[in-house]
Amino acid sequence: MNLGAPVRSQGPPGAGTIRDASRPGRRASTSAPSDVPTVAIPAEHRRERAPRLPEVSELDLVRHYTRLSQQNYGVDTGFYPLGSCSMKYNPKIAESVAALPGFARIHPLQPDETVQGVLELLWRVERALCEVTGMARATLQPPAGACGEMTGLLIMRAFHEASGQERRNVLIPEAAHGTNPASVRLGGYEAITVPADARGLVDVGALRGLANQYTAGLMLTNPNTLGLFEERIEDITACVHEAGGLVYYDGANLNAIMGRTRPGDMGFDIVHVNTHKTFATPHGGGGPGAGPVGVAEYLTPYLPVPRVERDRGGAFRLDHDAPSSIGRVHGFHGNVGVLVRAYVYLSLHGGDGLEAVSNLAVLNANYLAALVRATFPLAFPDSRPMHEFVSTAAELKAATGVRAMDIAKRLIDLGYHPSTVYFPLVVEEAMMVEPTETETRETLEGFAEALGQAATEAAESPGLLYDAPLTTPVRRLDEALAARRLVLRW
Ligand SMILES: Cc1ncc(COP(=O)(O)O)c(C=O)c1O
Repeated sequence: MNLGAPVRSQGPPGAGTIRDASRPGRRASTSAPSDVPTVAIPAEHRRERAPRLPEVSELDLVRHYTRLSQQNYGVDTGFYPLGSCSMKYNPKIAESVAALPGFARIHPLQPDETVQGVLELLWRVERALCEVTGMARATLQPPAGACGEMTGLLIMRAFHEASGQERRNVLIPEAAHGTNPASVRLGGYEAITVPADARGLVDVGALRGLANQYTAGLMLTNPNTLGLFEERIEDITACVHEAGGLVYYDGANLNAIMGRTRPGDMGFDIVHVNTHKTFATPHGGGGPGAGPVGVAEYLTPYLPVPRVERDRGGAFRLDHDAPSSIGRVHGFHGNVGVLVRAYVYLSLHGGDGLEAVSNLAVLNANYLAALVRATFPLAFPDSRPMHEFVSTAAELKAATGVRAMDIAKRLIDLGYHPSTVYFPLVVEEAMMVEPTETETRETLEGFAEALGQAATEAAESPGLLYDAPLTTPVRRLDEALAARRLVLRW
C-alpha cells in the first residue's frame, strides 16, 4: 500500500486552547426539550452578538481539561517546599466531611434552628483556636490571613478610639510578612520599620527607641519570615505595652509552635492564624482560606458580628448584639467549608497531635537545612530555624553566575516545585524552603540531592540552568513583565 509522502504531525487534536478545538455546531451537552413557553428576550437585554463560546464535543472537552490538569503541579503530585506558604498535604477525610450535604447544601440565611450542626461546629472551632492560641474569643469571618490582619488592626483602632487616645503608627519588624505593612495602612496607621539585629531577630534596643505615646501597636510575624523564633519575645511585648500599644501576633506560621507555646501566654493581645497553612485546608491561587482572629478578653467587645453563642439550654444561635463591634468583615459567616476542614484536622490530631505536627515541621526543616547548607549556606547561620529556613545562592552566583532563580527553574526539570526565591527581601539571592511536617525523610533527601545536582551543573554547564526549565509545556516566563503588564481575560 502506498501511503504517500509522510505528513508532518500537527500534534494531537486538543493540544492547543479549547478555542482551537472549536468547530461550529459541535456540542458537549444536550438540553432536555423545553416544557415552558418560549418568550423573546426584550431588545434592551439582548446582545448585538452571541457570546463566542467554544463549540466542542464532550470528548474534546474532557481531553482538554484532563490534559491541563496533568500539566498542573500540586501537593498531591509532588514535593512543594514553597517557603512562607506551608504547602502541606491535606488529608482527604477533611474533604469528604466538608462535602457532606449537612455542610455543603445549606444556605447561610437558613434560620438558626435548622442549622444547629454547623453552628455548633463553628462554636467548637472558635473554642479550639482560642485554646491553641491562648486567646479569650475569636472571629472566624476573615477569609484569608491578610483579611485577618486588617480585622485585627481595625480592632486595635476601635480600642484606641474608645479610650480616646491618639495613636498614629504601628511598628513592623524588618522580617515581617509582606502583608503586615499593607494591613497597617488599611487600618489607617503608618507603618514604621523596626530593624533586625545581626542574627535576623528584632533589634530590641531599636524597638525601645521607636515605641512611644503615638504607637498603636506592634505587629510581629513569629517565627519571622527568616523562619526564626523571636527569642526576646517577652521583652518585645513588654516594651510595646509600656508605651500603651497593643501587640499583634501574625500567627500564620503557627505550625512551628502550636502545642508547645501560645501567643496569649507570650503577652499578645490579638492573633490571627491561617487555617489554610496550619490546619490543612487547601490553599493556592489566593484562596479560599480562613484567617480567624483571636483577641484577649478586654478586646472581645470589638470582634465582628454575628458571633455564635450557646444558650443555657444548649442551643446555638447567631448573636448580632454587640454595639462596639467593628461590624462584618465578610458576607455571612466566612468560608465555612474551610472551617469544617480545619475542625476535622483539629479533632483528628487533638492537643498532643498538634504538638507532634509542630515538632515534625521543625525537625523536617532543620534536617533539610543540615543537608543543603554546605551548598546553599543559611542566611543567618547563628540562629536555628524553626519550620522553614532561608538559604542564599549568593556564593554560587559569585562563582558561576547562576542565580537563585535559575536554580528554582532547574528544580522543576528535576521533578520538584521550586522553593520561594528572592523573599525575604533582606537576604541576597534568597531561597526560602519550607518542607512541612507531612514529608518523609526520603523526600527531603531526594530534594537535597536535586539541589546538589543543580549546584554541580551550575559549575559545569551553567547554560543548562539559564535555559531551564526544559521539560515544561511553557519554558521560562518573563515574570517581571507578567507582574507588571497584567492581561486579565475571562
Ligand atoms: C506570615 C504570614 N502572614 C500573613 C500571610 C497572609 O495570608 P493570606 O495569604 O491568607 O492572606 C501569610 C501567607 O502565607 C503568611 O505566611
